[in-house]
Amino acid sequence: MTKDEIILANKECLFPSVFHYYRDPLVITHAKDQYVWDADGNQYLDFFGGILTISVGHCNDKVNAKVHAQTDKLQHVSTVFATEPQAALARTIAGIAPGQGWKSFFTTSGTEANEMAILAARCYTGSSEIIALRHSYHGRSSLTMGLTGQGAWKLGPVMQPGIAFAHNAYCYRCPFGLTYPSCDVKCAQDVKDVIRTTTSGQIAGMIAEPIQGVGGFITPPKEYFGIVAAIVREHGGIFISDEVQTAWGRTGNKWWGIEQWGVTPDMLTSAKGLGNGLPIGLTAARPEVANALKGLTISTFGGGPIPTTAAKAVIDLIEEENLAVNAAETGAYLRGRLEDLQERHPIIGDVRGMGLMQAIELVRDRESKEPATEETARLMEAARKNRILIGKGGLNGNVIRISPPLNIRRSDVDEFICLLDLSLLSIRA
Ligand SMILES: Cc1ncc(COP(=O)(O)O)c(C=O)c1O
Repeated sequence: MTKDEIILANKECLFPSVFHYYRDPLVITHAKDQYVWDADGNQYLDFFGGILTISVGHCNDKVNAKVHAQTDKLQHVSTVFATEPQAALARTIAGIAPGQGWKSFFTTSGTEANEMAILAARCYTGSSEIIALRHSYHGRSSLTMGLTGQGAWKLGPVMQPGIAFAHNAYCYRCPFGLTYPSCDVKCAQDVKDVIRTTTSGQIAGMIAEPIQGVGGFITPPKEYFGIVAAIVREHGGIFISDEVQTAWGRTGNKWWGIEQWGVTPDMLTSAKGLGNGLPIGLTAARPEVANALKGLTISTFGGGPIPTTAAKAVIDLIEEENLAVNAAETGAYLRGRLEDLQERHPIIGDVRGMGLMQAIELVRDRESKEPATEETARLMEAARKNRILIGKGGLNGNVIRISPPLNIRRSDVDEFICLLDLSLLSIRA
């Protein structure tokens, strides 16, 4: 198909809810490591990684070799039969999980992973009430849209009772108008108020992202999750860390984003970077919680030989090549370079994130912090022209999300910053 035929077919044959970035959609034909190419043969430096999914580079040779071999050996039998790839992945995850004896359930997406986590929390506690955070994103099913704290991502009539929303820890735009640290992390205490005022007081649990992804890489103060997890447990609930974006070393030095905050969750969910592009969802739980799910349940493709082979290869590679350390070190370098840009470009109101998960929030003026939504759209177009891929996020669409593969080098960061700088200069006019 030609580029135009692809765009036309998308327009005529896909649901209109399938949206593309940019005024003229970018048709990608192939990719390798940190680069992708469009239908006109242009090369782009990919600093978004298919929404934080390309964890070890596009079409990674080592991962692909294992996937190709598995494709020729066994593709599918479903989980009513035991296979080595699923068992080996579950064993590997048990070895890096936040506690002893953790068990895994595999599905095909982050949405399903979160569905499973909420089900397990409800079965374990006997309560149905869940706390979620404003500005969160947890998926596209009815339940997970219900858990999502951004109106734009809640389609159709929302039909999910039993979910209450606490304020998030958004220091740049504190919902209480306070300043850290003199605020005493009031947003964390808000969870207690929400439980006491909007639930029966006995909750099933709370789900939260260690750093809010779609929300615009909103990064809480270090005390936040410790306080919140304690409050949740005081009210009978379990704490679920949604690590769809933050796992696998992305935040630097540690496997799980929640570890950055010194908190051990009761359950965690992940997807995206685990498969480096192959569809896989993970719900992992401490044994008591996993064991509470007594009935039968099945995900036809969950735990299949191909995605689980890919996932184990990804984890092995992250370990062998010390990529979580690279995420910390190259991420710190990237952060420093973004802060340099902030000094020269007044439109950058905030720089935040951890490791190789960094964002800039764009504002019309630093005093009023008016979101620079239109300018962000223009920056996306300019970045495309300058051949870099970045992501957009935030409730107001004014946050640029930067999340390259975990194995990029400083030279890639230098090239990226130079092109981002040019893009920022071009939207000033
Ligand atoms: C934090 C978080 N949770 C859940 C999901 C849903 O994952 P999926 O799109 O694989 O269903 C996403 C997707 O962006 C996410 O960022």
